[in-house]
Amino acid sequence: MSAYENLLFEIDDRVAVVTVNRPQKLNALNAATIAELTDAFTRVRDDASIGAAVLTGAGDKAFVAGADIAEIRGLDAASGRALAERGQALTRLMERAGKPVIAAIGGYALGGGCELAMACHLRVAARNARLGQPEVNLGIIPGYGGSQRLARLVGEGKAMELILTGAMVTADEAAALGLVNRVVEPGEARAAAVAWARELVGTKPPLALRAAIEAVHEGLSMSLDEGLALEARLFGTLCGTEDMREGTAAFLEKRAAKFTGR
Ligand code: COA
Repeated sequence: MSAYENLLFEIDDRVAVVTVNRPQKLNALNAATIAELTDAFTRVRDDASIGAAVLTGAGDKAFVAGADIAEIRGLDAASGRALAERGQALTRLMERAGKPVIAAIGGYALGGGCELAMACHLRVAARNARLGQPEVNLGIIPGYGGSQRLARLVGEGKAMELILTGAMVTADEAAALGLVNRVVEPGEARAAAVAWARELVGTKPPLALRAAIEAVHEGLSMSLDEGLALEARLFGTLCGTEDMREGTAAFLEKRAAKFTGR
């Protein structure tokens, strides 16, 4: 896929910015947008010139206001399950892109929007953002990983409350819960997320970033002993890299490290 109908895809100085671009529908995720996001994040994963990505929504009203309810309405049991599996595959792809993906949330991040944001490694929200999983009000539950990732991020009790009530939380409440990492002024989420991505790309060794993401994410679904074994293996691999030599030498020589990704 080269040109997208529902997305903007830009690369600026090693940071890819993916913008869901259906502002008239509050960037709701129809099937075509899921397919385009899957293509875009495959590109983020596979393009070595991209060091990090930011996911955001067009306009200042919404990040993504959820799955497209007009499409949801026509689903039956089999097509509903297939849709959930496609959305889940996208969130797994983002999580496993091997480089930091940061959500820039301005306005509503509801349903599939909150789920996409949770599949990012870090989240920046504007103070006017609202996050939630309102699917219960439509007779369904989250289908793109929300029931699993929300509980992992904020704990079972609060996740249960948010999913059973469908209530929205403010950006400040989300920060207090650990659902977003940083809160910025309205209109500033995208710039703050891009600046954060650029800082990671410019100053951190990419192999260590990749390993850190893998250790935290994959370790969470393992037993403690399996997770520790994964951590030791990744730690060992990093100890064989040029970037580890450079990082430790730079510290001891009191200079800034110059990482090369080798
Ligand atoms: N799917 C499809 N269309 C959506 C949508 C969604 N998830 N969310 C918003 N839209 C559309 C609206 O239908 C409306 O379209 P129209 O102008 O053609 O009528 C347009 O986007 C603007 O939304 P509107 O509801 O008029 O804005 P609002 O400011 O009054 O309310 C929300 C904003 C986010 C509170 C409200 O749109 C909402 O509750 N959306 C659904 C959220 C949801 O349940 N998401 C989970 C889906 S599984």
